[in-house]
Amino acid sequence: MECKYLNFHGLLLPRIAHSEESIKYFENFQVNDDDVFAITYPKSGTTWMQEILPLILNGGDFTPVKTIPNWDRVPWLEETRAALVMDKMTPPRLMVSHMPYEFMPPSFFSSKAKAIYVARNPKDVLVSSFFFHQMATFLDDPGTFDEFVDTFLAGQVLFGKWTDHVKSWRKADLGDRILYVTYEEMVKDLKGVVRRFSDFLGQKMSEETLEQVVSHCSFNTMKTNAMSNYSLVPQEVMDTKKSTFLRKGISGDWKNHFSPEQEEKFTAAIREELRGSNIPFPWDE
Ligand code: A3P
Repeated sequence: MECKYLNFHGLLLPRIAHSEESIKYFENFQVNDDDVFAITYPKSGTTWMQEILPLILNGGDFTPVKTIPNWDRVPWLEETRAALVMDKMTPPRLMVSHMPYEFMPPSFFSSKAKAIYVARNPKDVLVSSFFFHQMATFLDDPGTFDEFVDTFLAGQVLFGKWTDHVKSWRKADLGDRILYVTYEEMVKDLKGVVRRFSDFLGQKMSEETLEQVVSHCSFNTMKTNAMSNYSLVPQEVMDTKKSTFLRKGISGDWKNHFSPEQEEKFTAAIREELRGSNIPFPWDE
């Protein structure tokens, strides 16, 4: 049986969305100064960013988020669809990427393009990923939750180890070209975060538009937006009887799934790997 993943420098990328050509396209991509990237480890709020960013950058025009699927609206630069849609995009081009910092295209480093890095509590990332592996037929079955804790800690998951990803982007030498935010901050205060994004991107937004954006980007509204809830994907590819893409949209769901032993082991391993880095571990509660 063909392996479901492509191996890129030790990172697992699902073949359904990546190819040797798409990786070449990514590596040779010419980044423009006004490009904007949202960078995430998988299951950390990518789809959410694909909803928020277009609304900020086009002054609250809701047409794109209601008419264009998220993967074409704000494409993944490393995925096969990027080559198909990127040329048609008008500046500022918005894109997402799951790539670690060191693998970004050379032109990214020499450009003035901005990046927003969204990190999420790794325990909730693991839970979200566990259910995603159950419903996405293009990924390996996750096994039991206990087995998946080990798979996750070993980095045998999409785009490698969570700790490597956050460490690589934390030490990014981008000055004021990068903004760090957490999924948990977005859950707690989406309005404040959207305001931070618009300030960072130099976009003025009226209070009224801000309110509309926040309301449109709520979990419940996004769940009903066919352009963002993955309902366009055939059932054979994403089995919604097993789980949904926009599943719970909360912080702390890990408490419903980790045993005390799993939690202890997981936290110890993550803390050990983050030791010596300047990354806080703001997810203790
Ligand atoms: P859960 O599985 O915990 O619900 P990504 O887009 O990076 O794959 O991340 C998917 C996760 O982000 C899912 O988490 C999904 O529900 C959550 N998400 C997407 N849109 C959201 C929103 N508007 N509010 C809260 N969470 C959201």
